[in-house]
Amino acid sequence: MTPEETLTRISRQITACQQCDLHYSRKLAVPGEGPANAQIILIGEGPGFYENEQGRPFVGAAGSFLDELLARAGLKREEVFITNVVKCRPPGNRDPLPEELAACRDYLESQIAAINPQIIVTLGRFSMAMYFPLARIGSAHGQPATVNGRLVVPMYHPAAALHQPALKSTVERDFTRLGELIKQHVPARPVGFSKPDDPVDPEENATQLSLF
Ligand code: URA
Repeated sequence: MTPEETLTRISRQITACQQCDLHYSRKLAVPGEGPANAQIILIGEGPGFYENEQGRPFVGAAGSFLDELLARAGLKREEVFITNVVKCRPPGNRDPLPEELAACRDYLESQIAAINPQIIVTLGRFSMAMYFPLARIGSAHGQPATVNGRLVVPMYHPAAALHQPALKSTVERDFTRLGELIKQHVPARPVGFSKPDDPVDPEENATQLSLF
């Protein structure tokens, strides 16, 4: 199966998923989107109101800001894969529950394995906790670390910066630095190249890099 076919299969499973109670209230599941050979995956928290309506990630206000942040890093939305730790909207945009995170975890791991990205950008504390369970976003943001051969960069969630204007310049600076990091670490990948890999083991110790 090609990575594209694998992603399509995972998306279909997510769309029909009934493994946690979020499926009762969802309108559309939001599997995520982007090229199967993306070098960078961004992982948010979960769909909000507009994402639940459209079945696409980051299409509301946080999504517009994310597009600006991606531009700071020299990236376009079409060249990265964007997804979330939970694929269905938690009612009222509440935090996802541990059992909802657990029910969705295999989907995310399978997406990452199929895409085999060089860099994983976590947006907010729930996706950060997959890789750095003890980290605090206030000190970990913008600090890249290698986890199972991939560079993982924890970032503030774009919505956090919209709600707390004091964070905006910090998030913008972190994404500008992400652009520098990409230049150093991501060789050009020929179009269509994508190699499945073992799923990332989040238990493995992360090694802080001294790039920043
Ligand atoms: N916030 C998220 O974390 N994910 C989305 O898809 C939209 C908003």
